[in-house]
Amino acid sequence: MSVSEPRVITSLTNDRIKAIRALEMRKERRETGLFVAEGASILVTARDAGHVPASLVYQAGSVSTPVAKSLVRWAIDVGADVLEVSEVVLAKLSSKDNPQAMLGVFRQRWAELPARASGDDCWLALEEVRDPGNLGTIIRTVDAVGAKGVILIGNACDPYSRESVRATMGSVFAVPMVKVSREAFLAWRAEWRGDVVGTHLDGREDFRRASYKGPVLLVMGSEGPGLSDSLTRACSKLVKIPMAGQLDSLNLAVATALTLYQIRGGALRV
Ligand SMILES: C[S@@+](CC[C@H](N)C(=O)[O-])C[C@H]1O[C@@H](n2cnc3c(N)ncnc32)[C@H](O)[C@@H]1O
Repeated sequence: MSVSEPRVITSLTNDRIKAIRALEMRKERRETGLFVAEGASILVTARDAGHVPASLVYQAGSVSTPVAKSLVRWAIDVGADVLEVSEVVLAKLSSKDNPQAMLGVFRQRWAELPARASGDDCWLALEEVRDPGNLGTIIRTVDAVGAKGVILIGNACDPYSRESVRATMGSVFAVPMVKVSREAFLAWRAEWRGDVVGTHLDGREDFRRASYKGPVLLVMGSEGPGLSDSLTRACSKLVKIPMAGQLDSLNLAVATALTLYQIRGGALRV
């Protein structure tokens, strides 16, 4: 296979390079519906989950492993815009702290609120999540426990930001994500047949002793203010994760992981 067909792009003012760099901005991601995923292992996850890149960018001379070669072959086969670029150009396109030799541009996918949930289904709702690292970590955990998806309520950060995508380690391609207003969420929640479990510092029940009647809708509050009053009232039960020290609360991603494993643990086998 020849991976040297495209001419190496060395200019940062190349229009296609500028378009990919612009995806750093949320506004640009919203308007184009595109996002960037970096690194061969995340790209393999994307391929295995049936996603197709609009573009694939790789550093000239870096395609030496079988995995890297297969990714370039895949991108060519699906008709992606395949760009071979200089080290300088790739350094500008990829993250500073963990630069990768390959990245892909993909179309975002958004799901609708599920029409029905049944049995031991579990959906996670996040109120106004602010930290993209937390959000990515949570998407990864949702994937790990086999929950059905993530509902982003209100003014949430972008799961397709570079930081969030990286923290998902590829689960962004596997986990359905829904974006809704608080009003739409509350109207939809009214039809939910199982438990709607809020995690709250004022919760009366220890999350390890509570019973969870499926399908479970787990609701987590925002990093700063926690769960709002309207969402707290929408929950059928409030659980608390006990803490021994003098701390105020757990990190959102940690609290989500603990609760999801408590709810879903019985369904998971090694
Ligand atoms: C960083 S905490 C927010 C803390 C906020 N100051 C408050 O009063 O809720 C983010 C979310 O994680 C969950 N959480 C964190 N620690 C928790 C705990 N010990 N018990 C129950 N939920 C917790 C809650 O959903 C909370 O809204």
